Amino acid sequence: MAKTALITGILGQDGPYLAKFLLEKDYKIYGLVRRYSNPNFGNLEYLKIADKVDYVEGDMADEASLLNLIRVIRPTEIYNLAAQSFVAASFEQARLTTEVNSLGVLHLLNAIKMFSPTTKFYQASTSEMFGLQHTNGYQDEKTPFHPRSPYGISKVYAYWLTVNFREAYGIFTSNGVLFNHESPIRGPQFVTRKITDAVAKIKIGLAKNLHLGNLEAKRDWGFAGDYVEAMYLMLQQEKGDDFVVGTGENHSVKEFVELAFRFAGIPHWEEYVVVDPLFKRPSEVPELRAKSDKARKILGWKPKTNFEELAKMMVEADIKRYKILNPKS
Ligand code: NAP
Ligand code: GDD
Repeated sequence: MAKTALITGILGQDGPYLAKFLLEKDYKIYGLVRRYSNPNFGNLEYLKIADKVDYVEGDMADEASLLNLIRVIRPTEIYNLAAQSFVAASFEQARLTTEVNSLGVLHLLNAIKMFSPTTKFYQASTSEMFGLQHTNGYQDEKTPFHPRSPYGISKVYAYWLTVNFREAYGIFTSNGVLFNHESPIRGPQFVTRKITDAVAKIKIGLAKNLHLGNLEAKRDWGFAGDYVEAMYLMLQQEKGDDFVVGTGENHSVKEFVELAFRFAGIPHWEEYVVVDPLFKRPSEVPELRAKSDKARKILGWKPKTNFEELAKMMVEADIKRYKILNPKS
């Protein structure tokens, strides 16, 4: 019988890439969509799979909706990708972030325990949990957590809850501790997409500058399309476990800016970039870099797309998008 997967966060960045990957493996996909006056299926349409998903309604903040859903569909696997995932917003909306990212996971895990204890559960954990901590310049599965935002804190709760349901009830649960991953369908508020979107607009003559915060922050950036394979592989193991997933290389925001302008063929990026305190965070994570030896060894996973290829892919996609919208430019 075909495997079934429930993907929460189906309308975000990772949901569509994961759905595409699992559809190619003949999964039946249920995608959780919350009540919205106007839901946006644009990312699924971009990957040409919007009509291949079975949409189900529910909200991570509404326990009954998740209990009923799991009772009815009892999927083989659940990939919990839904979150208030924007770190900057979590400082202003800490409670909402906690309700969705922490308590939402409690609701889902309780639903599994009560109605579908053989369902395997993937939790979208994050390198933001490490915050200021590192082990010789890297973060791996043994590095302690020191989150620096309500977002990071909400994800630490969810991480440990995921471990606890494995230890206490024997449920198959795994944490994928993923480092930053991007794509042409990355949300426009995240720094890489904000940069490639602005660069494309500048190229076409639709914008004159780009306001950014901390240019010195370093991230380990990979391609979302590569990372969803690691999620899948985690749930194909004999038992649930926790894995760090990243490229092992990091770069500053400034390096990403330089590359993006270069790929767009625009010289002198400094003339366009304005450092704006509005985009600085009350507490920053200065540097993240993954040591994902465990994922490489046990899952056999490694990234396929490097930093330059990622930046180029995103710049080209945004330029193409604006050219279609402004054919005379
Ligand atoms: P994303 O683009 O922000 O997508 C998050 C999705 O969650 C959106 O589709 C959103 O739905 C949904 N959502 C938010 N609140 C919800 C609620 N109350 N009920 C149901 N759905 C809700 O995030 P992403 O980049 O795909 O990341 C996927 C997951 O991985 C997130 O949990 C994120 O925290 C985590 N993560 C991401 C990265 C990364 O670099 N991308 C790295 C590590 C971990 P709407 O479309 O309705 O708003
Ligand atoms: N968004 C944004 N906008 N970030 C900026 C800007 C700006 O104008 N200027 C500088 N930055 C810096 C941020 O301060 C941060 O240090 C870095 O760029 C990356 O910011 P984001 O792209 O917003 O991502 P993030 O690292 O905070 O969080 C993302 O990655 C996490 C994994 O490490 C999100 O996808 C999280 O959901 C994910 O868990």
